[in-house]
Amino acid sequence: MSQLYSRHFLRLLDFTPAEIADLLSLAGELKHAKKNAQETQYLKGKNIALIFEKDSTRTRCSFEVAAYDQGANVTYLGPSGSQIGHKESMKDTARVLGRMYDGIQYRGFGQELVETLAEFAGVPVWNGLTTEFHPTQLLADLLTMQEHLPGKPLSDMTLVYVGDAHNNMGNSMLEAAALVGLDLRLVAPKGCWPEEQLVEQCRVAAQKTGGKITLTEDIGEGVQGADFIYTDVWVSMGEAKSVWEERIALLRPYQVNSAMLALTGNPQVKFLHCLPAFHDDQTTLGRQMAEQYGLKDGMEVSNEVFESAHSIVFDQAENRMHTIKAVMVATLGNK
Ligand code: CP
Ligand code: NVA
Repeated sequence: MSQLYSRHFLRLLDFTPAEIADLLSLAGELKHAKKNAQETQYLKGKNIALIFEKDSTRTRCSFEVAAYDQGANVTYLGPSGSQIGHKESMKDTARVLGRMYDGIQYRGFGQELVETLAEFAGVPVWNGLTTEFHPTQLLADLLTMQEHLPGKPLSDMTLVYVGDAHNNMGNSMLEAAALVGLDLRLVAPKGCWPEEQLVEQCRVAAQKTGGKITLTEDIGEGVQGADFIYTDVWVSMGEAKSVWEERIALLRPYQVNSAMLALTGNPQVKFLHCLPAFHDDQTTLGRQMAEQYGLKDGMEVSNEVFESAHSIVFDQAENRMHTIKAVMVATLGNK
């Protein structure tokens, strides 16, 4: 039985470097088994609740497909249609769902909500994104990085995250860097830097792994020698419409485009994005924002980079499923 059995998965810093390494290697094994039609079902007969207070494509589908592959059953509770939040507290919801389900995924707002769920459910709870953290995304990202630079340990890799670092992705990236020993640079205007307290906490944790955390506003200095350039949307789910104007003005110089990739000095540099991305005019919101703010070629990433050979975003998306499967198998599986 895994040492992670019956644990929650709420944020990366709850785990040791060895536990993160184990989850990544389990994800690799499960991926290999599925591709070779040799998958063993460790979650047979388990019932899993998927609470989504915010929208999702990748995370929901990953939990569902991973559960089905592993022989489990799922119930999807969407942003509307249940009592959660408006008529029933998270504490009561936890005590109800914990009587029926073997595991619960939560995507929504404050981290304290997923923590309350974990405290009172009595079954493993997995964080599928909160305002503060997106830990399952980072597992997929680390696996993707390993696959694209085989033979190079994560602790020798340089990851540059550009854009809004004061969000769940910036925060989770800091925690991941600390745990696997990355050279992480957050390149963003100061107004988009993560909370100082979290940065310090991660710098302390990074001392054990040799990780290095740099925050800079300087694009040229920040991206120099990058193995990977990562970005995320400039306005996250749940943020007020009123922040768009200010955020776009702040972050416009930080768009990931061909000129930025050239500044890395690494012709093999890879581009990462958790998705969904504003890179073209094929979405209603993307079109609206492009017109309103005069953005001619994407927002946080140019269409040229998104569609280029540098881009490995769909490998990341696939790896969401394999890594989420690893989290469920390790914490709930009969393995
Ligand atoms: N990256 C990610 O979490 O995507 P979804 O919002 O589609 O789940
Ligand atoms: N920062 C983004 C991540 C989406 C996967 C958001 O919270 O909307």
